Amino acid sequence: MAEEEDEGMVTIETERLRLRGWRDDDLDGLAAINADPEVMRYILDGAVRDRARTEEGLRRMIDTWAEHGFGLFAVEVRETDRLIGWAGLAVPVFLPEVLPAVEIGWRLDRGAWGQGYATEAAQAALRFGFHDRGLDRIISIRHVDNDRSRRVMEKLGMAYAFDTVVPSHDQPVAVHALTRDQYRSAAGHAVD
Ligand SMILES: CC(C)(COP(=O)(O)OP(=O)(O)OC[C@H]1O[C@@H](n2cnc3c(N)ncnc32)[C@H](O)[C@@H]1OP(=O)(O)O)[C@@H](O)C(=O)NCCC(=O)NCCS
Repeated sequence: MAEEEDEGMVTIETERLRLRGWRDDDLDGLAAINADPEVMRYILDGAVRDRARTEEGLRRMIDTWAEHGFGLFAVEVRETDRLIGWAGLAVPVFLPEVLPAVEIGWRLDRGAWGQGYATEAAQAALRFGFHDRGLDRIISIRHVDNDRSRRVMEKLGMAYAFDTVVPSHDQPVAVHALTRDQYRSAAGHAVD
């Protein structure tokens, strides 16, 4: 895995993927992903996002990096340079009961599902969180019926913690968690 940092923006290359900072011309690709009802099915109220809302989200992703020194990475396939979605770290402000916390999340274009890409990108983002940013614990939150995401969390070694409800949307969710020590001992990852 190769990693570069330039003015706070980090680029990580995994075997098949590049995790990088956001550019204005990512809006088209991102808007198409957010307009797919199958992709959005388990996100909050399950509504698709229009282009204006996606643009706001893109701006927020850029600001989060400046504010926290971590954030959601644009994920592209190295071989084609095609943007397939995002993965990375965020503060789950929609679920006040878990705060303070950092969550890991992912959202990919439907055409990219089922090839291990979310797991590959998330493994790189977890390592970034524990190793580069020194986080002590990373959680992940999914709709209780989101079995694909559950599977990704399991493959990352994140243990189920508890079920709860996102108050703003009455959304039933499960919370998974992984501590730095668990991460270090699980696969012999060096984090110091
Ligand atoms: C969740 C998501 C990122 C997964 O991406 P992906 O690249 O397909 O994930 P991976 O290939 O790394 O792993 C998916 C796993 O789920 C499994 N899976 C697929 N469909 C499944 C289903 N219906 N039930 C249970 N497991 C399923 C796959 O077999 C795979 O596990 P395996 O490697 O043990 O075979 C993608 O489906 C997505 O973007 N969904 C919409 C957005 C979303 O829900 N984001 C998460 C919010 S919490």
